[in-house]
Amino acid sequence: MKKSLIFLMAMLLTLSMSAQKFEDLALTPPMGWNSWNKFHCDVSESLIMQAADAMISSGMKDAGYEYIVIDDCWQVSRDENGEIVCDPERFPHGMKYVADYVHSKGLKFGIYSSAGTVTCQRRPGGFGHEYQDARTYAKYGVDYLKYDWCGSTTQDAKSSYTNMSNALRTAGRPIVFSICEWGSNKPWEWAGPVGHLWRTTGDISDSWNSMIDIFEKQKDLARYAGPGKWNDPDMLEVGNGGMTTEEYRTHFSLWCMLASPLMAGNDLNNMTPETKSILLNREMIAIDQDSLGRQATCYRDNGDYQIWVKPLSNNEKAICLLNKSDEKKSVLVDFDLLAKIRTFGRGFGGTMPAAPPSGGAPGMPGGQGIPGAPGMPGGQAAAGAQSGMPAGAGQTGQARPRFVQLTLNDYRIRDVWEHKDLTLKETSMYVDMLPHSVKVYRFIRK
Ligand code: GLA
Repeated sequence: MKKSLIFLMAMLLTLSMSAQKFEDLALTPPMGWNSWNKFHCDVSESLIMQAADAMISSGMKDAGYEYIVIDDCWQVSRDENGEIVCDPERFPHGMKYVADYVHSKGLKFGIYSSAGTVTCQRRPGGFGHEYQDARTYAKYGVDYLKYDWCGSTTQDAKSSYTNMSNALRTAGRPIVFSICEWGSNKPWEWAGPVGHLWRTTGDISDSWNSMIDIFEKQKDLARYAGPGKWNDPDMLEVGNGGMTTEEYRTHFSLWCMLASPLMAGNDLNNMTPETKSILLNREMIAIDQDSLGRQATCYRDNGDYQIWVKPLSNNEKAICLLNKSDEKKSVLVDFDLLAKIRTFGRGFGGTMPAAPPSGGAPGMPGGQGIPGAPGMPGGQAAAGAQSGMPAGAGQTGQARPRFVQLTLNDYRIRDVWEHKDLTLKETSMYVDMLPHSVKVYRFIRK
C-alpha cells in the first residue's frame, strides 16, 4: 500500500515536471525578423511597425517570413503587482498596440525575456513571474517568445525552461517557445518536449569566422531536429555589412541546409539588391522549409572543402558544396555518385526503397513510415512516410523494405543560386568555387 502510494506520488511529480508544449507549431523552421543583430537596445514602437511594413513591401512575407520579434530592452521595470512594464517613451501605446498592428498586417508577433532575474541587458527577467508573464504575453497577443538565460545563476536549465513552457501552456495562447540558453546544457537532449527551437551556441557576430565557427558546431546535432523541434544556430547576419555578398550567400545557404530558423537580423527598410536576392531566394528557402524537416549532415569533410546533404521530401535532396578556404578551388564533382547517396535514415549507402507492389504515387511508395524503421530515428513517422518507406517496413514479422538504386537519370539537377538546371555532358564535372563560397544543387525527381 505504502509502496503504491509512493509510486503514485512519483508519477504525479514526474507528470507535473514534464512539459506540455503547444504541439503543431513550428512544423517547419520559424521564419521572421528579430531586432537584436542590427538594432540592439535601440527598439521602439515605430521601429517594429516599420519592420512589419517592410516585411510586406520587400516581398519577405510572400516568401514565407512571418514573425516580427522584439528582442531585449523593451521592458524597464515591474509595477507594484509585479506586472512587467514596457518602456513608456519607446512604446507609448503599450505592447498590445504593437502586436495588434503586426497582426493587422497578417504577420505574427514575438517578444523576449530571460529565465533568470535579469535579461542580458539587465532589464527585469522572468524568474518568479513565469505564470504572470505568460498571462501578460497572451493578453498582448504574443505568438513567439524568445527566452534567454542571463541572470540565471544557479538555476537548473531544464526545470526553468519546463516551468516557462508550462506557464505558456496554462495561459492558453499558442506561443512558439524559443529556448536561448546558448547550448550550455545540451538542450537538444531535453528540449524537444519543452520548446520548439533551441540555441545551440553562443551569439553570432557579423563576421565570416563567427558564422563558420557556429556552423561547424552543428555537425553532430542533425538527429535532434525535426518538425516542431529545431536546432537554432542563431539569427541571420545577412545584410548587416560585416561579410561579403558571397559570404552572406554562404551563411544563408548553410542555415537553410541545417533546417535552421530563418530570423533576418538586418534593417529591412534599407536592403541592397544583393541582400534581397539572398533573403528572398525562394528555391533556397524551400530547402529550409521542406516538410520532411531534416537537417543536413556532412557527407565529405576534406577540411576546407566539404559536401553536405539534406534529405528532402519526395526522395529529393539538396547537396551543398562548401569552399571554406581563402583560395579559389576547382573541384571535380561526381554527380552520378551524389545521385546515389541514400537520403533516408542516418547513413549514406546509395540505395532507395523500391515501390511496393501496388499503390503509391510515382516515386513515393504508399503507406505510412513506421517509427523505428531500419535506419530511421525512432518516432519519426512523418519522416519515414516522406522518405518513401514502404508500409509496414520495420514492423516485427513484416518484410524488410526492398531497395532500388536511384541514379542520375532519375533526377534533374537544379543550381539553386543560378536558378537553372545543369546540362551535364559527362556525369562528372569540374566546378569553380570562389573563396568562402557554396554551390547548392537540388536533385529533383523527374
Ligand atoms: C543574449 C542572446 C542574444 C540577444 C541578447 C540580448 O546574448 O543570446 O541573442 O538576445 O542576449 O541582450
